[in-house]
Amino acid sequence: MCGIVGYAGERECTGILVNALEKLEYRGYDSAGIAIFEGDRIKTVKAKGKIREGLVQRLRMEAHFSAVSGIGHTRWATHGEPSDINSHPIGNGRVSIVHNGIIENYRRVKEFLTDKGYGFESETDTEAVAKLLDYNYNGDPLDTIIKTIADIEGAYALGIMFREHKNRIFAVRKESPLIVGKGNGEMFIASDVTAIIEHTKEYYLLEPGEIADITKDGVTFYDIHKNVIEKELSVVDWDISAAEKGGYAHFMLKEIHEQPEALKRTISPRIKDGMPDFSECGLTDEKLRAYRHIYFVGCGSAMHAGIVGKYVVESLARTPVIMDIASEFRYRSPLLSPDDLVVIISQSGETADTLAALKLSNEIGADTLAIVNVVGSSIAREAKMVMYTLAGPEISVCSTKAYMVQTAFMYLIAFRVAYARNMIDEQTCKKYISMLEGVPALVEHCLADQTQYQKVAARLMSTDSLLYIGRGLDYALSMEGSLKLKEISYIHSESYAAGELKHGTISLIEDGMPVIAVATQHNLYEKTASNVKEVKSRGATVIMVCSETLKSEMADIDYPIYLPVTDDILMPLVAVVPLQLIAYYTAALKNFDVDHPKNLAKSVTVE
Ligand code: AGP
Ligand code: GLU
Repeated sequence: MCGIVGYAGERECTGILVNALEKLEYRGYDSAGIAIFEGDRIKTVKAKGKIREGLVQRLRMEAHFSAVSGIGHTRWATHGEPSDINSHPIGNGRVSIVHNGIIENYRRVKEFLTDKGYGFESETDTEAVAKLLDYNYNGDPLDTIIKTIADIEGAYALGIMFREHKNRIFAVRKESPLIVGKGNGEMFIASDVTAIIEHTKEYYLLEPGEIADITKDGVTFYDIHKNVIEKELSVVDWDISAAEKGGYAHFMLKEIHEQPEALKRTISPRIKDGMPDFSECGLTDEKLRAYRHIYFVGCGSAMHAGIVGKYVVESLARTPVIMDIASEFRYRSPLLSPDDLVVIISQSGETADTLAALKLSNEIGADTLAIVNVVGSSIAREAKMVMYTLAGPEISVCSTKAYMVQTAFMYLIAFRVAYARNMIDEQTCKKYISMLEGVPALVEHCLADQTQYQKVAARLMSTDSLLYIGRGLDYALSMEGSLKLKEISYIHSESYAAGELKHGTISLIEDGMPVIAVATQHNLYEKTASNVKEVKSRGATVIMVCSETLKSEMADIDYPIYLPVTDDILMPLVAVVPLQLIAYYTAALKNFDVDHPKNLAKSVTVE
């Protein structure tokens, strides 16, 4: 939800902090700032706007200064509008902090401090923590931090500096992520490894309640009783190039093109002797047979992957699947029991709503399986079983390759559940797996010629509103297509069950209104074609995403988009590519910041 960085070393750190923040800008970017030790004081420079437009311009106006340690923050506002005064770092000269998360009892803390004579300049919840640290400060940073975190509630990752402890940085977290990077004669803190991978691949995962005391010479970890904790060093398993654009105009386009490789990396290790294999996490056939219900839970695109999963598991395994939006799951008193499996889907592994759903599932005693992309993320560590999607870092806020590999995992689960429950035999299961292994080549085919998507984008870019329609798996997929377009081109769209249109929504159709029909399911095609005729006869401009076998049926279609063919049940993995690229080119043609859409952040670590 925001990006935190920190540096303690021997190099001039302003540039290091700013560059690290830019690597995290996908996490939140409505304002940014740094605080550094300059002489015996803490100097803070911060500004509203993206880093290059705000903070960097502000730094250029500053008299030259030099520092070898400091903290930085790129914000996604939750309390207080984006503004200079509400941006981080926040402090009062004696203490300076950067914060990711939400302090739920900040009003009570502010009331307490106001009674003690404190004033507040910003509208943020964060300032309550900064001033409480100041109030509790007794000369010992550790005591001060321990006392302060005992009185705050909510989610936080904090980078902290005390004026009287020059060139030392402290870090503590609860819910929001934070790592400590270990360099050669220098140390870092960051919200995730992309910020520091150009300096080091070695890092410590800070666990909830642990406090890190960092200097250029190293780090000491403490628990809340001031006991020193020994921690294991982790090493990043991907290269810096994965966190760079590699010649593409945007990370989103790069990540769309990475999908064939991401698919191969993700599914291959989970196929043994031609069959889905989950031995890495202990998800046995015996367990799969025993579960009373299977739940899929996630947010946004991860939730959409779960919807495809529901369709596929229920159609193949004849097993009831409950698909829940994570932010709804725990407030609807789910009829969850220890006999159930909850599959938690998340790219970042830090989505607050999804993490909360996982914690509730664990409390109830259900089995929990996390399908996550970020190694060592909170969700990965909280779940009883975890399997990683191996898509590599997804930098663009818009989920593409992550959705692709999450959905591929849904198929692996569906095939194994169906086999374990004797709904398909080994030969059939192996046939599905073989077709799944053929999907990367079909995705490559869709990527080969993008002019058709660019034509559709040129038609859509002046549109205010449009519909995505489909039936069955096509309806599930149309939800993802609609979200892609909305979140980066800011064009209103909604996905609608094609058969449901005539029950009201068809009244929206006006002359020239685009309708994107997803029609890959042969058994439903005629029905969807009828719905297309209904909208066409009312003046709609129709884009149809369908199998190339239907070319003879396209007379009335304004923009047919043909797909290479595989088994209908796997077509969402193929048909999503045109929908991603239509959204991408529409946003690009509108000259929007595709990778940093307004109001969004890559990891929603607040509820
Ligand atoms: C999708 O393009 C969005 N970026 C968003 O809906 C995202 O899928 C959602 O916030 C879930 O994130 P997660 O997979 O990291 O949990
Ligand atoms: N809640 C804090 C604020 O609104 C931090 C938000 C963030 O995580 O960026 O400033």
